[in-house]
Amino acid sequence: MRAPNNPFLLSGYHSPTYFCDRETELEWLFDQFKNERNAVVYAYRRIGKTALIKHFFYHLEKDKKTQTVFVDLLGTASLEEANKKIASAVINKFGNFKEGIGKKMLALIGSVGAKISVDPITGSPEISFGLMKELDITKSMEALGNFLKTLKSQVVIAIDEFQQIANYSNQNSEAIFRSWTQEFPMIRFVFSGSHRHMMQAMFTDQKRPFYSSVQLMSLEPLDKTLYSNFIQSLFKKAGNEIPGDSLQDIFSWCRMQTYYIQLLCNKLYGNRNEVTQKLLMATKNDIVQQEAAVFSTYQQLFTTFQWRLLKAIASEEEIQSPNAQEFVSRHQLGATSSVSTALKTLVNKEFVVFEKDHYRIHDTLFMRWLQQI
Ligand SMILES: Nc1ncnc2c1ncn2[C@@H]1O[C@H](COP(=O)(O)OP(=O)(O)OP(=O)(O)O)[C@@H](O)[C@H]1O
Ligand SMILES: [Mg+2]
Repeated sequence: MRAPNNPFLLSGYHSPTYFCDRETELEWLFDQFKNERNAVVYAYRRIGKTALIKHFFYHLEKDKKTQTVFVDLLGTASLEEANKKIASAVINKFGNFKEGIGKKMLALIGSVGAKISVDPITGSPEISFGLMKELDITKSMEALGNFLKTLKSQVVIAIDEFQQIANYSNQNSEAIFRSWTQEFPMIRFVFSGSHRHMMQAMFTDQKRPFYSSVQLMSLEPLDKTLYSNFIQSLFKKAGNEIPGDSLQDIFSWCRMQTYYIQLLCNKLYGNRNEVTQKLLMATKNDIVQQEAAVFSTYQQLFTTFQWRLLKAIASEEEIQSPNAQEFVSRHQLGATSSVSTALKTLVNKEFVVFEKDHYRIHDTLFMRWLQQI
């Protein structure tokens, strides 16, 4: 794979060179894997869950004995769509289209309700699916498990954005997934998701199918010192420099949300000029403006009052009790009871999160934008 032109990646994963730290987390994942335990990684948005799993997979695949399958459930709305995503991931990973598809693979393709056709323009094979009933979905998942079971190598499946399944119209999606993982004890699963509450509830609520069946890890922001060293050495390699205080400024402005730190560093690196206070200010402004069009559409999701509460929370950055009289009067929000109700909506939609002992806006860039308007 070629080296990226800008070492601050904004999506996906390249290789350890462009990935900072996560040694403890990687070790933890290996420990689960070596001891045949299924794992869950959950965190707030854009902290680095997906990249961490890809980093883990990179190391797993290196030893050649393990095969990894990565499934992203983002955007899926039903069990049927989830099944299609998993089936496609498995077929793409193990179906060798260039050298002809083996018997076992052909049988699998049939039993998951898929068809292989050849794109008339590019000549490359494509997978398509027909409609499926719930019973067929269970059968398809079973066929997938049975196929993976017959492989000599150890298989690890990562299911990213797993919280999606809680929203599926199929009532028993969680139970179906749970029995699937149980039926194939030799396949290792890593689940990850960004809806912290939902993920926690799914795996720690006694009444839910996945209760007590996995090891959970909450992914925290990167260590500031290690991340500083990482960023500084990448700038140095390009003959540029980023002052320590600019980094501290970036960290606090981004509140350690990895994606935004990467984004700022990517822009500053791409600019190639000396990183001055002025350039940093302009770059911050740039990225806020870039997202402004999207952020302004969020307003439609809320009532005027909820929107005012969002802005009030943003202006304080962190607030212990938004329904305390003091806060309510300071922002002229009227009755504390209305604030409580609105707050619930904001938290349910995960626009506001409760962390340790305070509430804050989930998305840092959105908060920066709210502070400006
Ligand atoms: N340890 C790391 N070192 C360097 N870059 C990282 C690291 N972790 C994540 N990133 C980068 O940060 C960005 C966000 O990471 P990622 O997409 O993995 O987060 P996520 O938690 O999965 O986000 P989402 O909630 O949107 O799914 C990506 O551009 C990724 O390349
Ligand atoms: Mg992700």
